[in-house]
Amino acid sequence: MKKLTRTASGLNGSIDIPGDKSISHRSVMFGSLAKGKTTVENFLPGEDCLSTISCFRKLGVEIEQQVSSVTIYGKGMDSLKEPSDVLDVGNSGTTARLMMGILSGLPIHTVLIGDASIAKRPMKRVTGPLRDMGASIQGNQDGNFTPISIQGGNLKGLNFVSPVASAQVKSAILLAGLQANGRTTVEEPFKSRDHTERMLKAFGVDLEVDGNTISLDGKQELKSDLHIVVPGDISSAAFFLVAGAIVPRSRITLRRVGLNPTRTGILDVLKSMGASLTYSNVTEDGPEPYADITVETSELKGVEISGDIIPRLIDEIPIIALMATQASGTTVIKDAEELKVKETNRIDTVVNELKKLGADITATEDGMIINGGTKLEGAVLDSYGDHRIGMMGAIASLIANGETVLENEEAINVSYPSFFEHLNRLQG
Ligand code: S3P
Repeated sequence: MKKLTRTASGLNGSIDIPGDKSISHRSVMFGSLAKGKTTVENFLPGEDCLSTISCFRKLGVEIEQQVSSVTIYGKGMDSLKEPSDVLDVGNSGTTARLMMGILSGLPIHTVLIGDASIAKRPMKRVTGPLRDMGASIQGNQDGNFTPISIQGGNLKGLNFVSPVASAQVKSAILLAGLQANGRTTVEEPFKSRDHTERMLKAFGVDLEVDGNTISLDGKQELKSDLHIVVPGDISSAAFFLVAGAIVPRSRITLRRVGLNPTRTGILDVLKSMGASLTYSNVTEDGPEPYADITVETSELKGVEISGDIIPRLIDEIPIIALMATQASGTTVIKDAEELKVKETNRIDTVVNELKKLGADITATEDGMIINGGTKLEGAVLDSYGDHRIGMMGAIASLIANGETVLENEEAINVSYPSFFEHLNRLQG
C-alpha cells in the first residue's frame, strides 16, 4: 500500500527512460536461439523480462545479467534442452506467447505456467495456429489457458490470417515458422508493433514485409555477434508524458524514448489533444529510432481515438483515459476490445479506478467515453496486480485533491521498477 499526495510545485527535470519491454524480451529470446554471443545494453530489469531470462536458463542457455547489462552465449536452436522443471512466465503475456512459438518448433516436451492473471488470458489465438503447423499442445479448456504443455518439432509452414492485430500472435507464428518446413506467412488486420521483424533481420533472418503481411522461409539460422542497445520504453515514458502535460507548472525531459512508428500512437494523440512536445537528439541509425522528448503543462482538448491507431497505443489507453479527464470536451475510445484481455480487463479497471476519483467516464463494448474537465478527488485505488493500472493511479494522485492510497503498487515492478524513484526525482 502506498500513500500519495498532490504535487505542489509541478514536475521538473529529466529522467532516463528504462529499456523497452518488448525489445528486451526479444533480445534474450533471439540471442538464445542464435549461434554466437549477444550483448544487450539498457535491458529492462523488470519482472516480465526476468521471467524470459529464467525460461531460457532452464532450457540450458548461458545468460549473464547485471541489472541492465545482459550477455547471452547462444549455441543455436538445436542446443536448447528439455527442461526438468516447468517454465514459469510469471505475469508476462509476451513471454508466454512467444515462447509457445519457439517451443513448438523444438523436439522437446515443455510445460508453461504463469500467475493468476496469465491463467485468464486467451492462448488459443496462438495455440490454434501452432497446432495447425503440427505442434502437439494440451492446456486448460482445449489449449486456451495455462498450464499449457507442448510437444514440439516437425512443423510445416502455415498461411495464417490473424483475426487480431497482435504482435504476440504474429511473432509466435513467425518464430515457429523459422523452424518449419516450407514458407510461413502471417497477415494481420492492422499493423502491430514490428520489433520482431526488425530484430530478426539484425540476426540475419531473411523475411519479407509487404504491408501487413510478413513471410519467411523455414529452417533459417540466427547468427549473432550483436550488441543491442535497447531504447527507452515509450509505454513507460507515456506515464510521464501525460504527467508533464496535466500537472500544472511542469516541464520534463524524457531521454532516449523509442520512436518506432508502430508504437508512437501516444505521441499522435498527445499532439492532437494539444500537448506541447519537443524532440531533441533524434537518433535514427540503428534498427529502432529514439529521441529525447520534452513535455510541458498544456491546455488539452478531447479527441476520438479509433481504428488503425489502436494497436499503436493499446498499452497507453489507461494513461490516455486519465489525460482525457483533464481535457476540455469529450474523448471517445473505440475499436479497443483487446483491452479486455490484457493483464486485467482494462476497460473495467480503468473505468472503475477513474470513477473512484470522480471522473465522468463510461465503459462501452469496445472502449470508453470520457467527459473531461473534472477536478479529481483522492481515493483508495487498486492496481489489481496490473502495472499500468497502478501507474495510472499514481499519476492521477499528482492532480487529485487530498490523499490517494494505492493498493498493490508492487505490480509496477513488472515493467518499471524505478517508477517511484523517477517520480520522486521529478517532484524535486
Ligand atoms: C507486446 C504486444 C502487445 C502489447 C504487449 C507487448 C509484444 O500485446 O500489449 O504489452 O511485446 O509483442 P498483443 O500482441 O496481445 O497486442
